[in-house]
Amino acid sequence: MSTTENRAEFGSKIGFILSAAGSAVGLGNIWKFPGKAYACGGGAFLIIYLIIVALVGTTVMMAEFTIGRKTHKNAVGALRELNNKFAWIGGLGVLTGFIILSYYCQVGGWAMYYIVAYITDVATVWADPMAYFLNMLGANGFPLAALAWGLVFLALTAFIITHGTAGIEKMSTILMPVLFVLLIGLMIRSCTLPGADEGLSYMLHVDFSTINGTAILTALGQAFFSLSLGMGVMMTYASYLSSDDNLVSNTAIVCTLDTLVALFAGFMIIPAVFATGIAPGMGGAFGFATLAGVFMAIPGGQFIGMLFYFLLFFAAITSSTSILEGCTAFLVEEKGTERKKTILVLCVVLYIIGVLYTLSQAYMNIKGIWISREGLQFPIFGDFLEYLTDRLLLPLGAFFTTLFVGWIWGPDNSIEEATSYGKYKFTLAPAYKFIVKFIDPIAIGAIIVAGMVFGMSIS
Ligand code: PHE
Repeated sequence: MSTTENRAEFGSKIGFILSAAGSAVGLGNIWKFPGKAYACGGGAFLIIYLIIVALVGTTVMMAEFTIGRKTHKNAVGALRELNNKFAWIGGLGVLTGFIILSYYCQVGGWAMYYIVAYITDVATVWADPMAYFLNMLGANGFPLAALAWGLVFLALTAFIITHGTAGIEKMSTILMPVLFVLLIGLMIRSCTLPGADEGLSYMLHVDFSTINGTAILTALGQAFFSLSLGMGVMMTYASYLSSDDNLVSNTAIVCTLDTLVALFAGFMIIPAVFATGIAPGMGGAFGFATLAGVFMAIPGGQFIGMLFYFLLFFAAITSSTSILEGCTAFLVEEKGTERKKTILVLCVVLYIIGVLYTLSQAYMNIKGIWISREGLQFPIFGDFLEYLTDRLLLPLGAFFTTLFVGWIWGPDNSIEEATSYGKYKFTLAPAYKFIVKFIDPIAIGAIIVAGMVFGMSIS
């Protein structure tokens, strides 16, 4: 895999689409999006989010796709080939991905922990959902089981990508359709619960007075995270795509699928939360402790809860593999390391950071190693990693990518690549050109500055 000539390629068009959608659809859609939609005003937030995805999300994704496919290289190699002064933009992306992956795999492990808990020990989960969650994280002693599941999740991620694109493609073509079916089933169940209409009307009622700067910036940050943008992952995936695939339609399909899943997850969780009268808190506990209250209150809740954690697990693993692939492709191609060894070394370091992340959730507080801001639920190290990536590094990666395409490489080159030199139609090309040059850098620049200056409370 070290030269362009013998690089792997996705086997089919649909395999690529499902893999890229698999990367995009993840914990961000199912675990983060519903809580944010609730906190930022329901319907109005949904509209803002849709506008942002349509304008900024699609254009940044197309920028990344075209850079990757043009060069058939990892994120750093791709930028270096287009202009060797800008390889660092790819490097920044790889670093961001690496940091995200360290905690992402831990949360993936928690989802596996909960699958088992719902099968074998649901009475204990439901007896006190918050205590159960904190107990898993070490509030009453070293969280060995959670850490072990984190390791299992990471090992699975590594195992899948040792087989390169073939492994990723195979996994995604099986798991993504299953995920869709599960999600739609759970959404219908939730929307037909007695009392669900209140939640539905909350999600459908548009009241723009609830929209402030924080809500808009939350939507922007969420869109990047959710669409896997700003860290070279989409570049890397597109680099495995053959030169005559249509990047215009691929961008539209992947963005649409990712956004549909986020909306479905919102319409799965919020109506259930209203129907059961549980306050939908945000942050790490939401997908675990809060939802336990919901599953507890609905008929067949044990089975539905178990399905939900399977869903979360599938969503997480098709994303974690994409990030690890991005980091691995960089090291193998740029530093000439051997693929399997590279994956192993990456995983060791990832796991060490991940362990610190999980330990900082509760165990370190208990041991007095880390002083938390407000009790057990707001661990400083975990906050720090998420703050650094979601609010700073991801937007920075996307910001520089659009500046690069808009002003250095040039949108015309990107458009030629997207359409395979005119083979495919791209009616909105003039709009793409304008957005990538002006709107994207300004809008994204605004999040970064506002995030730093006002220290906004995005969660
Ligand atoms: N998009 C994934 C999610 O929504 C997370 C992710 C971010 C994956 C960046 C890859 C790259 O959970």
